[in-house]
Amino acid sequence: MPKKLFIKTYGCQMNVYDSARMADVLAALGYVFADQADGADMVILNTCHIREKAAEKVYSELGRLRHLKNARKQKDGGRMILAVAGCVAQAEGAEIIGRAPYVDMVFGPQTYHRLPEMVARAERHTGAVLDIDFPAEPKFDHLPAQTRAEGKSAFLTVQEGCDKFCTFCVVPYTRGTEYSRPAADVIGEAKQLVGGGALEITLLGQNVNCYHGTAADGAEWGLGRLIAQLAEIDGLERIRYTTSYPADMSDELIAAHRDVPQLMPFLHLPVQSGSNRVLAAMNRRHGVDEYRRLTDRLRAARPDLALSSDFIVGFPGETDADFEATMKLIRDVDFIQAYSFKYSPRPGTPAAAMEIQVDDDVKTARLAALQDLLNEQQVAFNQSCQGRVMPVLLDRPGKHPGQLVGRSPYMQPVHVDVPTDAPDNLFGTIADLRIVAGYANSLAGVLVAHEDGAAQRAGA
Ligand code: SAH
Ligand code: F3S
Repeated sequence: MPKKLFIKTYGCQMNVYDSARMADVLAALGYVFADQADGADMVILNTCHIREKAAEKVYSELGRLRHLKNARKQKDGGRMILAVAGCVAQAEGAEIIGRAPYVDMVFGPQTYHRLPEMVARAERHTGAVLDIDFPAEPKFDHLPAQTRAEGKSAFLTVQEGCDKFCTFCVVPYTRGTEYSRPAADVIGEAKQLVGGGALEITLLGQNVNCYHGTAADGAEWGLGRLIAQLAEIDGLERIRYTTSYPADMSDELIAAHRDVPQLMPFLHLPVQSGSNRVLAAMNRRHGVDEYRRLTDRLRAARPDLALSSDFIVGFPGETDADFEATMKLIRDVDFIQAYSFKYSPRPGTPAAAMEIQVDDDVKTARLAALQDLLNEQQVAFNQSCQGRVMPVLLDRPGKHPGQLVGRSPYMQPVHVDVPTDAPDNLFGTIADLRIVAGYANSLAGVLVAHEDGAAQRAGA
């Protein structure tokens, strides 16, 4: 009997990737995916620590799982192995076992390749297993090949960790120092994904554009070079990468936006603030003008490029004028999508100890104003898409029968009602859609092929 594995993933796309790789490791031990915790033989919470309340959420989820674990035992004497993984595990460590002694395994983002050992120990009931090292050998060297069909759009981690130490951020502490995977490993994994049916690959890294992997001949490749090579893989139609750090945007990478048609015209480029004073206090290694110049250069390289970003409001010491500068930057650059957050003090980071913390009601008001502006830009862009023809990767069923949902080059969800007499099965393909409506968070399209066909039939 296969054992059932349920993984709940919080946070960023790197956690999504890690969860899939944990499943690969556990598949060798006979675990298969289950879609709920109830009745599972192993439950893993793959956690995120980026903003506050993350740890509290994990503890309350653990409380709920404890009941399921007990119920399972009473029902059929079975054992549910309960694990906490990811960045909360890394940050809290043994504290988790202290507060929730029914947890069997606690491991960080860099040690899950050791799951077979951990599971063996957990199965022997020798107390909770804790593994939050930063091993000298990268986990990638020890992970099995991907076993799951990843679908049409796949994630591939190429770089991990961060040495930038933005003063607000826990990532350098939870994910460890910066590491780039060798180029050949990345290309090998990409080929496997494409062989398994992937049409789109998103290259992941905390600072993906500081990628500097070693190539087979010993040379060091940047992300631009890597993307150009990946574009040679037959059948790989779309390449994306996230998340980028503005100061690491090399000439070669900007050139890739011009030269590699598979590279999608959409870039997530977090700026955090539009005030030089705040950027300096954040220890960001770029100023506002550099960011503006960079977006100009990217748009010159790829005129249809659109941008998204991350913003923090209420960073310690942020004044009304600083906040206004952020609003001005947003108005000037124009973002089609963005994530924005109130500054959240993270224990152990320099900004948490800064003296002038901003009141929560000020943060709330600034966040609301900023999100209004960003939403306005997002809606305006979505509406401006009306009439355009876009290639859409249709990889999800829609809500009604016959409806499919996909992603535009700009990551907008696009809904299409496939006519019952449409000639092909479009699920899992990239189809040209004419956009007929733009909403707040999505678009509606019609099949161009069918439009033509319908016109011909009408004319005949
Ligand atoms: N590597 C990425 C950031 C990863 S964290 C980068 O270079 O920007 C994702 C986003 O969470 C950040 O861009 C930031 O906007 C937000 N964030 C991180 N720490 C935060 C904190 N302490 N408070 C509020 N937002 C935070
Ligand atoms: Fe965090 Fe800054 Fe690195 S936001 S991930 S420390 S670039």
